[in-house]
Amino acid sequence: MGSIVLKTDRLTKQFKKILAVNSLSLVVEKGEIFGILGPNGSGKSTTLGMLLGVLSPTSGSFSWFEQGDSNILRKKIGATIERPLFYPYMSGEKNLEIASMIKGVDKKNIDKVLEIVELLDRKNDPFGTYSLGMKQRLSIASALLSNPEVLILDEPTNGLDPQGIADIRKLIKNISNDKKTIILASHLLDEVQKVCNSFCILKKGELIYKGSVDNDFSNTITIEIDSNNRDDLKNTLSKYPLIQKIEESESWFIVKASKEISIFQLNSFLVENGVVVTHLNQKKQSLEEQFLTILAEKNEFYEFTI
Ligand SMILES: Nc1ncnc2c1ncn2[C@@H]1O[C@H](COP(=O)(O)OP(=O)(O)OP(=O)(O)O)[C@@H](O)[C@H]1O
Ligand SMILES: [Mg+2]
Repeated sequence: MGSIVLKTDRLTKQFKKILAVNSLSLVVEKGEIFGILGPNGSGKSTTLGMLLGVLSPTSGSFSWFEQGDSNILRKKIGATIERPLFYPYMSGEKNLEIASMIKGVDKKNIDKVLEIVELLDRKNDPFGTYSLGMKQRLSIASALLSNPEVLILDEPTNGLDPQGIADIRKLIKNISNDKKTIILASHLLDEVQKVCNSFCILKKGELIYKGSVDNDFSNTITIEIDSNNRDDLKNTLSKYPLIQKIEESESWFIVKASKEISIFQLNSFLVENGVVVTHLNQKKQSLEEQFLTILAEKNEFYEFTI
């Protein structure tokens, strides 16, 4: 990490009456898997379209690799957004040969990218006979042909079954391990949580959240808790099964618990064991609760971290 791959500055796209992307400012760093999360119609594909030079911004700007935007810079970017037109009667390999020609890249990469997406053994089969997951993997292979530094994926697991989804997610992680930066648009919180390490949330074209995904943290909640008798409190808390960690601060105990925990039941348990609580506060919502809260509320920027 460290160097900046993408920076957008108040990027905006207006389609007649619809403000699809509204003053979006983002930074994506090298090596990240960056998620753009948002419900349908929130402006994810429009954003990616601008970044790829397919759509021109109404206002604002963006810069790749801190050098601006140009066809030459965009050669370092591979994307599945412009869904490649694969010919159904031609083999996967033949389709990639055509894609190589269009992109002006050497055909020698074809076997390598087919291997990455685990389609080498099916390369001679017609594209039309591929499963949806295999078709999706072939479009990722096509995006990788130029050995890009950045890979842009728009809803890469749409329509796939659980196995297909798992395969694509594993593939994304493998590609990321190869030191590539990945920008992924998704309407699935679960996807962003499982795959990405940084993300933002768009709602009606506005950035309403940005932060990092800490997988440990997203599955736990933090509770502040105190009592006049701290020894009793600590002993009793340590017997409660959903509690994972108890730390003592000056003001109270900070308890990390599995997100299944109910504060109400925890309090009842303490009372049953003779502990009277003087302070009880659930610090953070789970990522899922935060996402739902964020989407339910009016458009304002959230600063809390996950
Ligand atoms: N070419 C276009 N002309 C007019 N309006 C458009 C155009 N493309 C997108 N929009 C509008 O811009 C808004 C954002 O659309 P966009 O496709 O970027 O959303 P999205 O977040 O990618 O949604 P999804 O999850 O459904 O893919 C929508 O209201 C959409 O109708
Ligand atoms: Mg979209």
